[in-house]
Amino acid sequence: MALMTPAIRPSNPRFSSGPCAKRPGWSLDALSGASLGRSHRSKDGKAKLGEVIERSRDILGIPADYRIGIVPASDTGAVEMALWSLLGARGVDMLAWESFGKGWITDVAKQLKLDDLRSLEADYGDIVDLTKVDCDRDVVFTWNGTTSGARVPNGDWIPADRGGLTICDATSAVFAMDLQFDKLDVVTWSWQKVLGGEGAHGMLVLSPRAVERLESYTPSWPLPKIFRLTKGGKLIEGVFKGETINTPSMLCVEDALDSLRWAESIGGLASLKARSQANLQAVSEWVAERDWVDFLVGDPAIRSSTSICLKFADPWFQSLGSDEQAVVAKTVAKQVEDAGVGFDLGGYRDAPPGLRLWGGSTVESEDMRALLPWLDWSFEEVKSQKAAA
Ligand SMILES: Cc1ncc(COP(=O)(O)O)c(C=O)c1O
Repeated sequence: MALMTPAIRPSNPRFSSGPCAKRPGWSLDALSGASLGRSHRSKDGKAKLGEVIERSRDILGIPADYRIGIVPASDTGAVEMALWSLLGARGVDMLAWESFGKGWITDVAKQLKLDDLRSLEADYGDIVDLTKVDCDRDVVFTWNGTTSGARVPNGDWIPADRGGLTICDATSAVFAMDLQFDKLDVVTWSWQKVLGGEGAHGMLVLSPRAVERLESYTPSWPLPKIFRLTKGGKLIEGVFKGETINTPSMLCVEDALDSLRWAESIGGLASLKARSQANLQAVSEWVAERDWVDFLVGDPAIRSSTSICLKFADPWFQSLGSDEQAVVAKTVAKQVEDAGVGFDLGGYRDAPPGLRLWGGSTVESEDMRALLPWLDWSFEEVKSQKAAA
């Protein structure tokens, strides 16, 4: 017999971890001012690209002497540009605790083939021992591991007088968490995450020390044009003023501007963080009252408020084989999706079977609260179907 479904439905069922929900109130009208059919190098086009850079700087409090560029190929493009342009001058510590961090290790080990590479890895649900990281080497890490929901607690483990560069993939952290830019030499993100923009372009932030490295070191490997940040040993400053390397989508640029204006209108970074925290709080209260579900990340100090990852703690679930667990997790997510109340909340394919709820700043906490009883319903439904089978 089918169980009763909850009475309340989220008004926005979008809980994907990327592309993430658009900001509240968004419609296509938000793009009506886009500079379409014009050169991105026109005065108008460049002004819009420059505005994305400066509004991002203001909201995030990025120091005035840091360069901010809009680069090709989303967050991956920005991270790869940094890895290929900067690494190799000294040894590197590569940190990973989920799929994306592990991917950066693979690139540096197998593509760049760096000899002096130490990889520090932790399992899903945890992060590495940060006291073991040597910041006199270069350090590559992900601030918030999107596929496990584990994040660094802060940047206190990075010394101010470090010898190496810290290269930080912050795509699911920025605009929802404090990043301590003075501890970071390279920061990257893409538009489709916390502010719910469109996927296409990456943001690349460089500290003065990162620029110094670019101007004093030439990697031994070739660099394709879309990765090149220097010319004749000098930084190409235009890239950091909106003169993008290749053609951007001005529709995406307009949408990014809309999201930044929205962020300002609600009170900037403090409000963005509070909105994300309210989502985590809603899930925490719900988890605390249930036995069948728990956070994948046990330690609240390293638990993400954006990519909120859940595991099934139910003894029946635990007794299943791993293939069956994966089927149950998928079915729970699918039923919620089929009911039209929660899209894209299956765990990541490489993560342990579970659910992942995006709690970034564009998600309304009333929607998060409305979703949660549907997870109870869906899990009970699958469990009783399986028990009857
Ligand atoms: C931590 C992290 N790094 C990199 C990526 C890849 O981002 P993009 O698709 O913007 O290149 C993602 C996407 O979810 C991510 O979460």
